[in-house]
Amino acid sequence: MSAIEYTVDADGIATITLDLKTRPMNVLAAELTEPFAEAITKVEGDAAVKGVIITSGKKEFLAGADIDGVFAITDPKLAYELAEQYKALLRRLEKCGRPVVAALNGTALGGGLELALACHYRVAINNPKSKFGLPEVKLGLLPGGGGTQRLPRLIGIQMALQPMLEGKEFSPAEAKAAGIINELASDSADMLAKAKAWAIANPKAIQPWDDKKFKFPGGDSKSPGMVQLFAIAPSMAHAKTQGNYPAADNILSCVYEGGVVDFDTGCRIESRYFADLVVSQVSKNMIGTLWFQLNAINKGKSRPEGFEKSTVKKLGVLGAGMMGAGIAYVSAKVGIEVVLLDSTQESADKGKAYSTALLDKLVKKGRMTADAQAAFLKLITPTTDYALLDGCDLIIEAVFEDRVIKADVTKKAEAVIPSTATFASNTSTLPITGLAKASARPKQFIGLHFFSPVDKMPLVEIIMGEETSPETLAKGFDYVQQIKKTPIVVNDSRGFYTSRSFATYVMEGAAMLLEGQHPRSIEVAGLKAGMPVGPLALHDEVSMSLSLHVLTQTRKDFAAEGKTMTEHPASVLIEKMVDTLKRPGKKAKAGFYDYPDVGEKHLWAGLAKEFPLAKEQLTQAEMIDRLMFSQANEAAKCFEENVVMTVADTNIGSIFGWGFAPHHGGALQFINAIGIAEFVKRSEALAAKYGARFTPAALLKKMAAEGKRFE
Ligand code: NAI
Repeated sequence: MSAIEYTVDADGIATITLDLKTRPMNVLAAELTEPFAEAITKVEGDAAVKGVIITSGKKEFLAGADIDGVFAITDPKLAYELAEQYKALLRRLEKCGRPVVAALNGTALGGGLELALACHYRVAINNPKSKFGLPEVKLGLLPGGGGTQRLPRLIGIQMALQPMLEGKEFSPAEAKAAGIINELASDSADMLAKAKAWAIANPKAIQPWDDKKFKFPGGDSKSPGMVQLFAIAPSMAHAKTQGNYPAADNILSCVYEGGVVDFDTGCRIESRYFADLVVSQVSKNMIGTLWFQLNAINKGKSRPEGFEKSTVKKLGVLGAGMMGAGIAYVSAKVGIEVVLLDSTQESADKGKAYSTALLDKLVKKGRMTADAQAAFLKLITPTTDYALLDGCDLIIEAVFEDRVIKADVTKKAEAVIPSTATFASNTSTLPITGLAKASARPKQFIGLHFFSPVDKMPLVEIIMGEETSPETLAKGFDYVQQIKKTPIVVNDSRGFYTSRSFATYVMEGAAMLLEGQHPRSIEVAGLKAGMPVGPLALHDEVSMSLSLHVLTQTRKDFAAEGKTMTEHPASVLIEKMVDTLKRPGKKAKAGFYDYPDVGEKHLWAGLAKEFPLAKEQLTQAEMIDRLMFSQANEAAKCFEENVVMTVADTNIGSIFGWGFAPHHGGALQFINAIGIAEFVKRSEALAAKYGARFTPAALLKKMAAEGKRFE
């Protein structure tokens, strides 16, 4: 069963249809590329063939490289050869002496788009769901099938760089506007007719770069404009990557160097930079977590089996504040009817206004019609009336973080909703098992912990109470997927998984400040470590009063249980910032930073007096280790304690939940990559210097002794 169908029509137009029968999508596995090479040989050897159309027998055109294969490569020579082989194939195709047209019936990404770029002409069906782009950078790689050489020669260096550096995916219309696609078609028949017409009309087609008179559109790398561009582009990229993403550097190098040599040399240069990335630790980290583990989560790895997939049709959101308003928005966005309830009509209306404001922006940008906005908003009913919750499949409670208020609204809602409905709390700190005590149906009670801002953050942490049933978990999981977010599943415990691990980052920053480290150095170390925001700025964002609130509650809980709590050394600093200095964070416009009404935030000058600099200033590397080891160790403890149950959930939860440096592939992969024995050794050294919080999780010592790693 070949993956290629090859036909020649009466006009001498050969159609090569890609259809890898063993997979849901076409990917560049040998089962596809080998018969594809044979098809090219047929074209080359058949004088009756006057033109070639390449299309796909699947819904999408070609998804790209076979990631399994690339991930397995550890020898750079093999990676180089793989890239060279594919490029040789594409080179034969574009030099076969006949016009070759890509008939793009659906998405073409990575190697798929590179195949299309090796065709003389590209016609795509104008389906807004189709995507075209070179997203390799998102997995720490670069387009190794000639993409870094063809795209700049097709649309110019400046236009080509950004999409490759960002991994941008274009819709057909956007791709046409950018010059990546030549023509749009309404449907398959139209696409094939247009492809054929072009092939017949252009019998002598050659690629622009094979024309002796070829010039880069906008100039090559030596042209004055591009010299200016390359003087700043690396610094701009570096400002974003902090040097943590070698793929960005390599893409820039491929494009720059490719712009001073001929096409074939450029292609060879690209293969070398590609090989460098394939065997890099960063690409292994990113592919392992952001491809394999994320796919496993999306396929339902943590969803209990045996329950039919459920969908929420009507959702009740209790509390229309910052979180409730966001939850209403993301739910209505996928067509769910939402009842948004608050204690006053004014607050409920304000919650709905949040959606109106977000949609207004889309309408203004021309990305949504006024009719679509009206239809969207019609789905959200703001109210104070519990009776409207009748018929809800799911309730999400997002009222004040107060047990008594939460218990009260739980009872009121349960009096109205169907007996089968699920009740979820979006609490950030209160144990679910305790909150479930207010419920008459604790088996149907679960935690759905969203992150702020809800419309942007991709994760939802699902929390199992002691009595939560597997069926309720399955329903919660399905809802999270319904709103197109990624679910991780955790057990009920103080701070759950994400808040608990995240806290170690901001608290370590605070501890260093207290020790007299320069606040600017602390912030830069956080960014250099690959975190999205420095620890002090982040603490301001989430607010130190919240940290203090949690701290006070935890102290009380420990006392009530007759236990003594090990205080974090930075606790005193938080108390001082909130209680004495009255600087709780961004909301109050006063925290570690000042937030002037006009101009940018800046570190508060008073820090110098309150936390004078120590004589000994730590190196940046030492600071980075402290910030990263504290988080990774806490995540490992959560895994050890069964708070979070799978490696995939732990890694993805860390990246999507609190922004743990993606280039490390998540908190546990960070430990894997260092080597567990090495991590233990370094952690013990940090513990000796800075305190017991660095003492490595017992699990890590055990794994190191057994030579195991997180799989
Ligand atoms: P918020 O203060 O912005 O909103 C709470 C809303 O609940 C207010 O509109 C208030 O009027 C309403 N409310 C209070 N008592 C009520 C009652 N008895 N009946 C109906 N409505 C009532 O708070 P926010 O930030 O939206 O937080 C809500 C919940 O989400 C809290 O449990 C919080 O811990 C949790 N959470 C907050 C996150 C954040 O970043 N702010 C992140 C994750 C969870």
